[in-house]
Amino acid sequence: MNEFEAIWERLESKLSKTAVKSREKLPYTTFDGVHDDKSETDICWWTNGFWPGLMWIMYNATGKEDYLITARKAEEKLDRAFYLRDGLHHDVGFMWHLSCGADYRLTGSEDARVRALYAADFLAARYRLNGGFIRAWNAENGDSREGRTIIDCMMNIPLLYWASGETGDDRYKEIAMSHADMTLRDHVRGDGSVNHICIHDPKTGELIKTLGGQGFAEGSSWSRGQAWAIYGFAQSYMKTGEERHFDAAKRCANYFIAMTIEDAVPQSDFRAPKGKILYDTTAGVIAACGMIEIANCGGEAAYRYAAERIVKETAERFCDFTLNEDSVVQMGSESYHSDKGQLPIIYGDFYFAEALSLLLGFGRTN
Ligand code: GLY
Repeated sequence: MNEFEAIWERLESKLSKTAVKSREKLPYTTFDGVHDDKSETDICWWTNGFWPGLMWIMYNATGKEDYLITARKAEEKLDRAFYLRDGLHHDVGFMWHLSCGADYRLTGSEDARVRALYAADFLAARYRLNGGFIRAWNAENGDSREGRTIIDCMMNIPLLYWASGETGDDRYKEIAMSHADMTLRDHVRGDGSVNHICIHDPKTGELIKTLGGQGFAEGSSWSRGQAWAIYGFAQSYMKTGEERHFDAAKRCANYFIAMTIEDAVPQSDFRAPKGKILYDTTAGVIAACGMIEIANCGGEAAYRYAAERIVKETAERFCDFTLNEDSVVQMGSESYHSDKGQLPIIYGDFYFAEALSLLLGFGRTN
């Protein structure tokens, strides 16, 4: 058994039990080791697809019915978010591509297909024709926020690529590509680092200014945003074959690798002042998934080695494989200035499992 098989075995042993224990929940984090539940408090919350998505990764690898049952419960709960549609924004990709999209691809469920296509229609409708980009958020506190784009959206557009393939309607893909090209132009900087938030003139698409978002400050380098860019451009290349998207994925990955030479597991912001230690394990495992796919697409083997290093270090130093704690990957962070500090977050577990699944060749679910 190689070291990744051994890590997988520990992960699966724990998740086979947590899948049953947290069956009625949509977890985001844990309190005193116990999963919280967003299904009652915030059904439109952007992370609500990761728990069912994680279940599908495990089902795909093991065929165990318990994972399927838990995933389906979550998907049914998520329907209520469609009725509260004003609470939804661009993150419907995370919410339904990883959950119902995976369900449909693995089981052929027609209900799951329809749900994922509803989400794709909702996302496509956020496209600003004149600006050429997908609007991130809805209005808040009197600010329409209609010109805002965020790097994270690179991970929502795979839903659109899928929808084009599924329906034969090229418009979803054209919207996704236009958004990816805007991201390349306005979010990716010359050195391969990225801006988290860009504000555009919504009528012309012209870039007005950038914001630091969840990072330290404007011009800094939020590591999870960097990871979304790596994995998002890698997937865009996988769906379109556009070399410029592959180059972008590699440039963003090269920057991430250069920033993590001393410690494979990233801090929350690569350009924050020295002194405050704030890990973001979630950024590491997201980036690892992107690097594995870059290598799988013909990039140098060094990308795979970098990913393996992240996964190994995360497993050894930051994972809890016991049943005393419902989450696996510890020490994520929401944002640099969040007063929550370090916490486990559900997408840390999702991308840790996805990275291992890719390394072990179980195949993609999304
Ligand atoms: N998409 C928001 C985040 O990465 O925290």
